[in-house]
Amino acid sequence: MTVLVTGAAGFIGMHVTAALLARGEHVIGIDNFNDYYSPELKEARIAELERIGGDRLTIHRVDIGDDSELAAALAGEDFDRIIHLAAQAGVRYSLDNPSAYVRANLAGHVNILELARQIKVRHLVYASSSSVYGANKTMPFRVEDRVDQPISLYAATKRADELMSETYAHLFRIPQTGLRFFTVYGPWGRPDMALWKFTASILSGKPIDVYNHGNMRRDFTYIDDIVDGVIRSLDRPPADDGLAKAGGYQTPHRLYNIGNNRPEPLMDLISTIERACGRKAELNMLPMQDGDVPATFADIAAISREVGYSPSTDIEIGVIQFVDWFRTYQGSATGG
Ligand SMILES: NC(=O)c1ccc[n+]([C@@H]2O[C@H](COP(=O)([O-])OP(=O)(O)OC[C@H]3O[C@@H](n4cnc5c(N)ncnc54)[C@H](O)[C@@H]3O)[C@@H](O)[C@H]2O)c1
Repeated sequence: MTVLVTGAAGFIGMHVTAALLARGEHVIGIDNFNDYYSPELKEARIAELERIGGDRLTIHRVDIGDDSELAAALAGEDFDRIIHLAAQAGVRYSLDNPSAYVRANLAGHVNILELARQIKVRHLVYASSSSVYGANKTMPFRVEDRVDQPISLYAATKRADELMSETYAHLFRIPQTGLRFFTVYGPWGRPDMALWKFTASILSGKPIDVYNHGNMRRDFTYIDDIVDGVIRSLDRPPADDGLAKAGGYQTPHRLYNIGNNRPEPLMDLISTIERACGRKAELNMLPMQDGDVPATFADIAAISREVGYSPSTDIEIGVIQFVDWFRTYQGSATGG
């Protein structure tokens, strides 16, 4: 049968779609190719997917925030599972562009829940975020921790998605898995994220902005490990058996952290990129930014135990993979 992937032209969506196509599935991809970052990059990802998937891939250019547009695009399509990754991402952008988050992450999530309800979906896997932990002090972050103090609108919308999903799991018994992603990186990554920005600046001899004077730690998770965890989760939907699930719900709805379980100091990341680029970075030390957190650290016990997730990519290797891809992509994008 067929899987619907929202945000298929996005970073994680592209890789998840590629993995589904590689194992012979049919995929219907949805994306609105918005210009939060380069639409050309999104088009290039889709071109790559079309090369892999041929006629097993269908793409619809549609805004998930518009329920009638979404219904019209999917009329006549047949699918039994949904991986919902489309969202307005980014913590800092949410300080100045709240309506983008309301449309994509709140209205969009409800529209996908309604869709899941109508088709009686076998499993809906959706993207949450490590940012729901806000300024959580206990490390590592556990899915059992209370998460009702978001410090950005982005985080609040992702937490709201989890709550709305729980309502649908309760009322309509929709099997769901919410994945709290921890700083995903790798080839075909996002230009708004630190690894891309640092690499681009270091390679072109420009200074990099280092927030909180470098005193930050992130649980960086390589994209191949993420894809493995997403697909393992998809293939093992939670049972509707009344037993408590990861995250505490007694509906067929569970929450997993999907991280590397290994926070890296930001300054170590910068050294790793310097080695991969063969150049030293010029550092522009800055204070902490609003909405940001000093550290993230994922407790991955639940997803490891229940679906066999086991991240294996060392950051040194992952950064080399990214920098190699980045040089090739920049070369082809500039005709060099
Ligand atoms: N990458 C990370 O480190 C990270 C961390 C935490 C959570 N997440 C979450 O994982 C998911 C995927 O993230 P990503 O890094 O691939 O981001 P991304 O921005 O690369 O991908 C999201 C895709 O969704 C599309 N989109 C946005 N709004 C849409 C709308 N209204 N209708 C249709 N398409 C829309 C975008 O065009 C984009 O291609 C998101 O939900 C994000 O919030 C990612």
